[in-house]
Amino acid sequence: MLFLAESCLIFLLTSLTEAASLQPVPRQVSPGIPIPPRQDPWYTAPSDWEYRQPGEVLRIRRAPGNLTSVFNASEAFNILYRSTDTNYRPAWAVTTLFIPKTGNHSALLSYQIPYNTPDVDASPSYAFYAPPSTQGLVYTDITGALSRGWYVNVPDHEGPLASFACCVQEGHATLDSIRAVKNQFQGWSLSNNTRIALWGYSGGSIASEWAAELQVQYAPELKIDGAALGGLVPNLTAALPNLYDGSYFAALIPSALLGLATQQPFIRQYVDSELKPSGQYNATTFDSIRNMDILSAFNFFANQTMTNYFRSGIQFFSNPTFLDILARDSNMGEHGVPQMPLFVYKAIQDEITVVADSDAIVERYCQARVSILYERNTVGGHLAEETNGDARAFEWLAQVLSGMLEQSGCTVRNVSLNVTDSLL
Ligand SMILES: *[C@@H]1O[C@H](CO)[C@@H](O)[C@H](O)[C@H]1NC(C)=O
Ligand SMILES: *[C@@H]1O[C@H](CO)[C@@H](O)[C@H](O)[C@H]1NC(C)=O
Ligand SMILES: *[C@@H]1O[C@H](CO)[C@@H](O)[C@H](O)[C@H]1NC(C)=O
Ligand SMILES: *[C@@H]1O[C@H](CO)[C@@H](O)[C@H](O)[C@H]1NC(C)=O
Ligand SMILES: *[C@@H]1O[C@H](CO)[C@@H](O)[C@H](O)[C@H]1NC(C)=O
Ligand SMILES: *[C@@H]1O[C@H](CO)[C@@H](O)[C@H](O)[C@H]1NC(C)=O
Ligand SMILES: *[C@@H]1O[C@H](CO)[C@@H](O)[C@H](O)[C@H]1NC(C)=O
Ligand SMILES: *[C@@H]1O[C@H](CO)[C@@H](O)[C@H](O)[C@H]1NC(C)=O
Ligand SMILES: *[C@@H]1O[C@H](CO)[C@@H](O)[C@H](O)[C@H]1NC(C)=O
Repeated sequence: MLFLAESCLIFLLTSLTEAASLQPVPRQVSPGIPIPPRQDPWYTAPSDWEYRQPGEVLRIRRAPGNLTSVFNASEAFNILYRSTDTNYRPAWAVTTLFIPKTGNHSALLSYQIPYNTPDVDASPSYAFYAPPSTQGLVYTDITGALSRGWYVNVPDHEGPLASFACCVQEGHATLDSIRAVKNQFQGWSLSNNTRIALWGYSGGSIASEWAAELQVQYAPELKIDGAALGGLVPNLTAALPNLYDGSYFAALIPSALLGLATQQPFIRQYVDSELKPSGQYNATTFDSIRNMDILSAFNFFANQTMTNYFRSGIQFFSNPTFLDILARDSNMGEHGVPQMPLFVYKAIQDEITVVADSDAIVERYCQARVSILYERNTVGGHLAEETNGDARAFEWLAQVLSGMLEQSGCTVRNVSLNVTDSLL
């Protein structure tokens, strides 16, 4: 994956110089066609990157191809920056920053996409070039935010190993992407007065919530003005049993396990020792998700009995070391309390995590004096809520990013929003 040609080294030095001098608009090195991250030498870190500060810009380029026309932005940049992995060791990640055509530089939205897969080539910075039909709402959320004049930051928050469900890493990568954008554009177009908000649905809510809960310990200097969290997945331990027998979302099991395995050696070894080498439910089939985007994976694994893949069947999910790791790295609310107002939205009939899990974390945070507007939708399931809650999230974020949000204390209410006719 990490091949560094000599020509790239020159390119890298050019880029680093650009980054170091904080030129707002780096020189165009080549028009560039998009290359998958596994093959693109741009997706490697320069030497000594470990010694840089989290959020320091290591490379920057104009995003290849025609992203500005796809998203109606004035500029689109890829930024490679220093971060910290799930075991608190140095790491790096990439983000894409879109600059709006209009606007007064007063707002930055960090939008975390639910790409949910251990396939690094499904990272947003590259997946953006796939047809819009495979991206769905992601496109309209980004164009919608840009048309409101907001800067839009979209990190590849699973990092260079596509570590889905390594949630500490996802939170760090998200916070450092904001630091990187501020480091690069501070004083040119972004200022300390630029308001910042986080937004994510489902897998995007994981990265966004972890950024929110880790901010106080990991990026205390960063002021984030609000976070909109939809389809929250507060507790993976509680979610997995909803997925292993005939769920449309069964693919989240191989996604989470192989994602965790990238940074949790115990899980790597445990999964390897448990997967059956042959038969209909075998390791090769399980591992094939490494080359799938999440929509293909949902369709491929839909309705399977996932416990069939493991020698110990359903017992697989009871191993105490496995559960300890999930509790530490995949369950929300253990690492800090968000220091910003939240908007949480969730379908009462969500099939991935029961609404009670979201009720519980909201109540815990409310007791810790976080201000939360929590809307429970009586209509629709997990996929439908991404559409049903979208306009409400935009409305709330617009208040945050214009400094007009008047929210104090906690409000929990049932709503009935029926925008999509999706059955899930
Ligand atoms: C962007 O490029 C892709 C691939 O070349 C092309 O299919 C698409 O129509 C282009 N989109 C725009 C808005 O120019
Ligand atoms: C692109 O953005 C500009 C400025 O926000 C807006 O005036 C224009 O209508 C947008 N174009 C499309 C096709 O959305
Ligand atoms: C912006 O904030 C940073 C970090 O808090 C601080 O070092 C810097 O001096 C501020 N810049 C301005 C122009 O106030
Ligand atoms: C997560 O779910 C598991 C299984 O239902 C439960 O034992 C655990 O207490 C939950 N963790 C939190 C922090 O709520
Ligand atoms: C693994 O399972 C697939 C179907 O899921 C099957 O086509 C393949 O032959 C199996 N491989 C082995 C080694 O059994
Ligand atoms: C999964 O099951 C549902 C309901 O039983 C069915 O409608 C759907 O077609 C099945 N999907 C696949 C891919 O088998
Ligand atoms: C920037 O635009 C927003 C939204 O249009 C507005 O609320 C804000 O007052 C403007 N800020 C400045 C400094 O003009
Ligand atoms: C909201 O819906 C739940 C069912 O999920 C119900 O138990 C509760 O009473 C409702 N709350 C309000 C305020 O209507
Ligand atoms: C939602 O709206 C659709 C029409 O768009 C309708 O068929 C469906 O019954 C509605 N669902 C609920 C729960 O109201």
